[in-house]
Amino acid sequence: MIKHIKQLFLEKFGYEAQDTYFAPGRVNIIGEHTDYNGGLVLPFCIDKGIYAAIKTRQDKLINIFSENFSIQGMIQIDLDLLPKALLNNYGDYLVGVIKVLLKHNYDLNQGLDIAISSTLHVGGGLSSSAALTVLLLKIFSDKLKLNLAQLEIVKLAKSVENNYLGVKCGIMDQFVIVFSKRDKALYLNTKTLDFELIPLNLKEYSFVLINSDTSRKLADSKYNQRQTETLQALKILQNFYDIEDLSEIALDFLDEALGKITDVVLKKRVRHVVTENERVRKVKDLLLNNHLREVGDILTEAHYSLKDDYEVSSPLIDDLVEIALKSGASGSRMIGGGFGGSTLNLVLNANLEGFIKEFQTIYQKRYEKPFIYSVVYAKDGIGKID
Ligand code: GLA
Repeated sequence: MIKHIKQLFLEKFGYEAQDTYFAPGRVNIIGEHTDYNGGLVLPFCIDKGIYAAIKTRQDKLINIFSENFSIQGMIQIDLDLLPKALLNNYGDYLVGVIKVLLKHNYDLNQGLDIAISSTLHVGGGLSSSAALTVLLLKIFSDKLKLNLAQLEIVKLAKSVENNYLGVKCGIMDQFVIVFSKRDKALYLNTKTLDFELIPLNLKEYSFVLINSDTSRKLADSKYNQRQTETLQALKILQNFYDIEDLSEIALDFLDEALGKITDVVLKKRVRHVVTENERVRKVKDLLLNNHLREVGDILTEAHYSLKDDYEVSSPLIDDLVEIALKSGASGSRMIGGGFGGSTLNLVLNANLEGFIKEFQTIYQKRYEKPFIYSVVYAKDGIGKID
């Protein structure tokens, strides 16, 4: 891929690239929709992601070409003349990054040529948008000598999504893309930003990712709706308790807290957040103590919480979970924002081949879509690769 991205750069710009970078996508083991509620998450980065080859320019133009969106051609942004409205293409990430840096008074005095190519499957829900934003910030930081600290990159990347792209996401994706380490899962408290890298040794099990091949872009508004709903629930509870976010509600107090809310939908949202935080704690302990079988049960339990209480699944994703369990997975659940994307499945290595075969047979009887799966391992976060 390094050779490929350098070649792409050469073809598009007519000279050699200076540097190449890689920003991975992420998988979340457990802790979904908790990160904008001050809760816990347990993600890791995978080996698929976005590659970039770059070179600085003498003027103040940023030229970017994405192989995956080649139909949109080369996008050019003048650092002195930023577009006011959204471009409605991937150039918006670039403009968002530039605007957020300018807002924080960083001096952007040099242009860049950038070629990018992604191995993340579109519609996989593996956080390609956070990968792109973090990647661009890292490139600006290094090449324009902004010296951004790692945590600063995380926060600025989140701000691009929240303030320029209108997605009210939490900090999980950006954080793990910067801090992920090979063979580790990142146990993160999204409120304090304290984190631990815990060994991810699955022993006789593997994580299998299955891609629903459906984009969740259309559903971004529903994502924001969930954020608004949890905020509404929090406001109600703040009349009774001195809390800053829903994750401060301990499991033992859940029933009491639910008693203060009359709206049935809001009750369900709170129940998901509180029980999900508990599941993250449990899975962390189970992983540390090598109780993988029980991890599977909790993953499946989390899926039903996301489906029934948080209502962010989809019929296709539910079906993928059902097929996985029928095919012998020890646990299965949707990951990420929901409404599409991928499922994460815990499968015994001894069953792996049988699982894939069985899954494929059932899937292809029901759907006329390609069956896209991969076995995933925890990898390092963003970095310069050459
Ligand atoms: C998306 C968001 C994250 C997080 C997940 C759900 O990936 O970008 O911040 O909220 O959904 O856990």
